[in-house]
This record gives sequence, structure tokens and C-alpha cells, in this order.
Amino acid sequence: MRGLSVDHLSVRGFRNISSADIELAPTFNVVHGDNGHGKTNLLEALYVLGSSKSFRASKVKDCVQFGAESTSVRASVREDGLLRTQSVGIGRGARSVKVDDKRPPSLSAYAVKTPMVVFHPGEIVLSTGPGAERRRLLDRVSLFFDARALETLDAYARALKSRQRVLEQRGTSASELDAFEELVVQHGMLVMEQRARASSELVPSAEAAFARIAAPGLVLSVSYEPSAPASVEDFRRALVEHRERDARRGSASVGPHRDDLALSIDERSVRGVASQGQHRAVTLALKAAEIDVVGRARGARPVLLLDDVSSELDRERTAALFRFLSEQRGQVFLSTTRPEMLELPERASLVVRDGVVRVSS
Ligand SMILES: Nc1ncnc2c1ncn2[C@@H]1O[C@H](COP(=O)(O)OP(=O)(O)OP(=O)(O)O)[C@@H](O)[C@H]1O
Ligand SMILES: [Mg+2]
Repeated sequence: MRGLSVDHLSVRGFRNISSADIELAPTFNVVHGDNGHGKTNLLEALYVLGSSKSFRASKVKDCVQFGAESTSVRASVREDGLLRTQSVGIGRGARSVKVDDKRPPSLSAYAVKTPMVVFHPGEIVLSTGPGAERRRLLDRVSLFFDARALETLDAYARALKSRQRVLEQRGTSASELDAFEELVVQHGMLVMEQRARASSELVPSAEAAFARIAAPGLVLSVSYEPSAPASVEDFRRALVEHRERDARRGSASVGPHRDDLALSIDERSVRGVASQGQHRAVTLALKAAEIDVVGRARGARPVLLLDDVSSELDRERTAALFRFLSEQRGQVFLSTTRPEMLELPERASLVVRDGVVRVSS
């Protein structure tokens, strides 16, 4: 598998980081500093560079520094010895992404260039929470198997929104409904196809990872549960049947926006049943699967962003995390308030203080 690393990073007006130009290590980079100084912001800037999205705000515009008009993240990325530049600029309305100063054919094409997998304590909702985070996981993985995955998701969301607007403003027998529902069905079928493909890769990997991580004898089962009928005709009919209800409740009750990746341990659904430790093991298993599947599909090791993970873990799990990390041969960023806890070889230290990033030796 090819190596992938961000060699040099320039950040402008990104949250509390006004300006940073830093050289990074191709292996471990420990980001440290006190609470609230900008460690997560730095990891978020890297994630925006890789994906053009944020991992903590639904709108990437939120990353623009208070009082500023725009933000930019630019980097040189090394893959297999070759260097390229990548940049993401976010202004009021638009977002621009470039590779070697040229616009890529699509946002999906950009987002697979330098894959980043992020891990932060909030991600426990992958196991404890409703389907949204799990759908996002499927969609992130889909990108690596379908060149237009993001565009398909966008088109589906737009069609769904238009149908809802018509339902609410013009009633359940408005003439435009048929056309919008046809778009919902067309794009929705593609979304379900791409998620089924992603889950066929993720499921075996997550189940195997869980068997390695969790107490012996526990078996995790993961399965994709689409939330719309599998045939075009039945999906179409279900939308028509639900018009009345959807107009009242303010959202569509069938369609892949309600899909889930069902998780169960020993045939019992994980949500509301599993212990805290089991939820952690499930979350770790899903993230390990993401790293594995993305890496294999892309043929290059994704860059790992671990935000504050050791703060959540007890001694045994911290030791397990470091065993896992010491096996990684790719680039890793790890934020912590307690760098003395980490025993890592060949690491670079990045100190973040009041939004100023400094490389310390
Ligand atoms: N858009 C923004 N513009 C300017 N500053 C921002 C913006 N968004 C967040 N901040 C500031 O960034 C700081 C938080 O940074 P960050 O979350 O990276 O801290 P951290 O070092 O990860 O802290 P912790 O160790 O507590 O997780 C806060 O002071 C917050 O006010
Ligand atoms: Mg933080």
C-alpha cells in the first residue's frame, strides 16, 4: 500500500488559527496544548483539506474565523514520493477545491485524493446514537467505490426537499409531485446501491475487528438496512401512499435518508442494551473497518486524525491504542493535553497556544 503524508500545511483564518505554516512528520505528529487553545481546530483544518468538510460542524463555513470573510487550508501532499499541492478555500457562499492549482472534475474526485480518517470521543454515537452517524460512515466509504457518490447524495437531498416543499405548499395532489417523486426514486435507488456496496466491504471488516477487540465469545453483526422498498415501482408507490402523512409530519417517511447500519451483539440490538465498554469496542471496530476499507480501496494508507482519544480511555485501552498505533505505518496526528502519556517513536511535536502553532523539537 502506498504511503501518503501531508508534508507542509498552511492555514489562514481557520477558527482561532489566524495563520500557520508548518512542516509535518510523515509518521507521528503529536499536537499538544491546553484546553481551548486550538488543537481540535488544527485537526479539523487537516480534515477540511482532505474532505472539504468539517467533522464537527455541519456547515464548513463555521470554520471561518469570527469576523473574517474566508478561510483557506493549503498543503503539499506526498504520495509515493511525488508531491502535489491541494487547497480548500471557504468563503461566504462558495467553496473552492484545487489540486495542483486546477479544479478537479468533482467534489467526490477531490475527496478521495488524500483520505483522512478521524477519530474523536464524540464518535461513540456511531454505536449509541441514531442512524445519522452510521449513514455518514457509509457515505464516506461510498466515495471510494463510486466516483459520483457525493453528487448523487446531493441530488437525492435536493429532490427530497423539493417534494416536501410542494407537499407543504401546494398539497398532496399538486401536479409537480410526480416529477419530484420520480427524481427521489431515481437518485434514492443510486444512494441505496452505493451504500449497499460500501456496507458489503465494511461489514466483514468491522465484524472481524470486533472479534479482535472485544471480550472473547462476543459476536458483532452488522447489516445495512435500507429504508425504502428495493424495487422502483414499490418505492414510487410508497411515496404516493405517504404523501398525506409526510405533509403533516414535515418530512418524508420512506427513503434512504432514513437508512441505517444495524448493529447487534449476540443477536440483540446494540442501542440501549450494550454496556459502555461494548459501545466503545463497537465504535473502534467500525473505525478500524473504515481505515481498512478506505486504505484498500484507495491503495494508500489514510491519514489518521485522533482527537483527544486517550482522555477517554482507561490504561488497558490506552495500551491497546498504542499497540494499534505502533502498527500503523502511515501518517498520524494525535491531539492531547498530556503529551507525557504518549510513548511514540520518531514523532514531531506541534504545540498549540492561543491559535498559534509552533513545531517544537
Ligand atoms: N470560527 C471561529 N473563529 C475564531 N475562534 C473560534 C471559532 N470557532 C471556535 N473558535 C475558538 O477555538 C477555540 C477552541 O479550539 P479547539 O476546540 O481546537 O480547542 P482544543 O485545543 O481542542 O481544546 P480541548 O483540549 O478542550 O479539546 C475556542 O477558544 C473557540 O472560541
Ligand atoms: Mg479539542
